[in-house]
Amino acid sequence: MKHPATESNDHLADKHFAAVAQVIESRVGIKLPQTKRTMVEGRLRKRVRALGLPGLQAYGAHLFERGGLDDELIHLIDCVTTNKTDFFREPSHFEFLRDVAVPQLTQRHGGRAPNLKIWSAASSTGAEAYTAAMVLQDLVAAGKVARFSILGTDISTEVLKEARAAIYPRAFVAPVPAPMQQRYLMRSKNPQEDVVRVAPELRRQVHFERLNLMDGSYPFDRDVDVILCRNVLIYFDRPTQAAVLARLASHLRPGGYLMLGHSESMAGNGVEGLRAVVPTVYQAGPAAGARSAA
Ligand SMILES: C[S@@+](CC[C@H](N)C(=O)[O-])C[C@H]1O[C@@H](n2cnc3c(N)ncnc32)[C@H](O)[C@@H]1O
Repeated sequence: MKHPATESNDHLADKHFAAVAQVIESRVGIKLPQTKRTMVEGRLRKRVRALGLPGLQAYGAHLFERGGLDDELIHLIDCVTTNKTDFFREPSHFEFLRDVAVPQLTQRHGGRAPNLKIWSAASSTGAEAYTAAMVLQDLVAAGKVARFSILGTDISTEVLKEARAAIYPRAFVAPVPAPMQQRYLMRSKNPQEDVVRVAPELRRQVHFERLNLMDGSYPFDRDVDVILCRNVLIYFDRPTQAAVLARLASHLRPGGYLMLGHSESMAGNGVEGLRAVVPTVYQAGPAAGARSAA
């Protein structure tokens, strides 16, 4: 028996699955109903192996009966988060950024080419942040933006490592238009490696930090021009969505934009000081700005 931890009779005890679900919902905001149990158990088997435990029963006991939870929490979170992302995912947001948001924000910055601050608030492995960086770097080259800085944050330490490395399989960067691939992606020197790396002039302007959107406050600037918070709210319940959106809105400068995933809607969570501009894009009015200056 080579891999006892992958045997089909190896499961978390019911009470341990319930305890995992409770910890994840209270700390991360993500619900883990019974329908997710097989997926969760599948993902946790790599932790069973990493810890050298005989199986998921023992893993549950390690977490909840032998005091292992605190040290293991970060890995548990890495295992249960869904990190799907793409370059130029939901491309209309990046067209909006280039054609509407930046020209308007330029006016608000007094007509001068501004120094724009962008925040990718559930960045996963960085594709969203680097996509924004490519769009903005083009605008810098066109003299429409002086400088920009991009912050990417996520709760998962694993994805943040990948985001900082900025190395992606070539197939993964296929959505990047060819001219941008030429300008902003470097081929590996080793022809055996079918990967590319984001060019240093973009990497220098993109930083990644760990942030749990469930935290009561976010230790970041309160004059952000554009916040992308896409495809994460769907995992949260309504009150959590509303609280996260209100906190994010308080970090926007007046006239700044918040973009949500195409399947996410603020219906029912109307955040004071934000108005819908086009579906899933919201703009901060003076009220949100006034709050943000506090
Ligand atoms: C499906 S990915 C979306 C990535 C990107 N925004 C996009 O649209 O392509 C969702 C990300 O949200 C992160 N996430 C989940 N819960 C979170 C929380 N409470 N705080 C911060 N990030 C969280 C996950 O780790 C994951 O990387």
